[in-house]
Amino acid sequence: MKKRIALLGAGTVGAGVCRLLAENGDMILDNNGVEIEIAAILVRDLNKERPGVPKELLTDDFEKIMADDSIVLVAEAMGGVHPALEYALRVLKAGKCFVTANKELLSQHFEELERTAFEHGTGLYFEPSVAGAVPVIKALTDSLAANRIYSVMGIINGTTNYILSKMSEENMGYAEALAEATELGYAEPDPTNDVEGYDARFKLSILSSLAFDRRVYVKDIFCEGITAITADDMRVAKDMGYGIKLLAIGKMEDDKIQVRVHPTMLPLSHPLCSVNGSFNAVFVNASAAGEMMFYGRGAGDMPTASAMAGDILHALMQETRRRYPFVLGGVPAAQITDDWNSAFFLSSVAQDEPLVLARVANIFGKHGVSLKTVLQPGEASDGCTRVILITHITSELKFRKALEELKELDCIEVRNIIRVEE
Ligand code: NAP
Ligand code: HSE
Repeated sequence: MKKRIALLGAGTVGAGVCRLLAENGDMILDNNGVEIEIAAILVRDLNKERPGVPKELLTDDFEKIMADDSIVLVAEAMGGVHPALEYALRVLKAGKCFVTANKELLSQHFEELERTAFEHGTGLYFEPSVAGAVPVIKALTDSLAANRIYSVMGIINGTTNYILSKMSEENMGYAEALAEATELGYAEPDPTNDVEGYDARFKLSILSSLAFDRRVYVKDIFCEGITAITADDMRVAKDMGYGIKLLAIGKMEDDKIQVRVHPTMLPLSHPLCSVNGSFNAVFVNASAAGEMMFYGRGAGDMPTASAMAGDILHALMQETRRRYPFVLGGVPAAQITDDWNSAFFLSSVAQDEPLVLARVANIFGKHGVSLKTVLQPGEASDGCTRVILITHITSELKFRKALEELKELDCIEVRNIIRVEE
């Protein structure tokens, strides 16, 4: 059975899909009885060199794809919300399946895309949008469909994990590590999305909406990126037995959901500390299945092409079984809480004088925050000394209040705050 498809985009991901289908199309046909034929590929620049992408299939005219009734599925790897959204809606309204790697588009227009697919009797698929090659979307929607999900948590941005790994293991500078991640095809067309945590926030919105059967909006997710993490933070953390990772955390307790993306210090013995480079790892805690960890390459051409080609085949073979949870289940908006518990690492420079630490400890004590570790690494100079504090597990809101007050003291300058998970 031959199925004709179109690709929107032939950059890192789109070109990877071309190469993968060229390499393994025969095997896919033998195993599944489906011959996937790429009929057209939309790009902006028809003259760019694109190894492995058949030049004769390139077009810069989306209307040509829409006019071809033999195309039954369109796979999007362009990125950005516009014109991807307009194209997606046109594709779905024409009754064609839509597969996307675009988490920004999906996280912001999930309901509209799903409703349009439902109303036009077609399907919306998005495995490549989260965690690259790692099949965590199908795990949540299919394999774990009979479970209540309590939490999803992990490393879901390859670029920042690559940068932090290089800074920690090779003392590489931030800018050099980001340049390498871009060169390797991991970073977004605008890497601000990676380093500021926005990409992980898009993905967490998708994962937690699926996991908790509630609509978790991007705007409700607490988000801090890695741009404030310094080589010094990495070194001090390592000396204290911690690694620093950008974590995305979604937890549901008593119908309240906490969703947050931020750099996190983890004991070096924690399994997430050994997830390095472009690798991603997602822990899922499910009612019947218990705890699981999904691990694999979270970015790059062939890992993402693996997820996209798999989703294309899945979509083509699944014409009668499609999921429309937002339409059929009437998925409510989530009740988001902005208070959660974690420990905090605080790096500061303080005057090296009597009672300074007492004043600091007093403020924390006043807000019910208890200190676990106080360190003064290195020698004092110019009457000042480094002070590193780690709190016991405490409430986010209590800590923020203490921090506000601390920042008013003239005897201490807070340099950085990093949340700590034990
Ligand atoms: P990319 O290398 O920049 O490729 C984007 C492609 O889309 C290019 O071929 C570009 O055409 C085309 N394009 C962009 N805007 C267009 C427009 N308005 N009209 C026609 N063509 C357009 O990006 P990418 O890394 O492949 O990422 C694509 C999507 O996949 C993004 O949503 C990204 O978040 C997602 N994703 C990426 C990865 C990864 O590891 N890179 C992993 C998972 C998901 P030209 O080549 O002519 O400029
Ligand atoms: N820029 C993304 C990342 C691509 O680094 O994880 C994969 O979604």
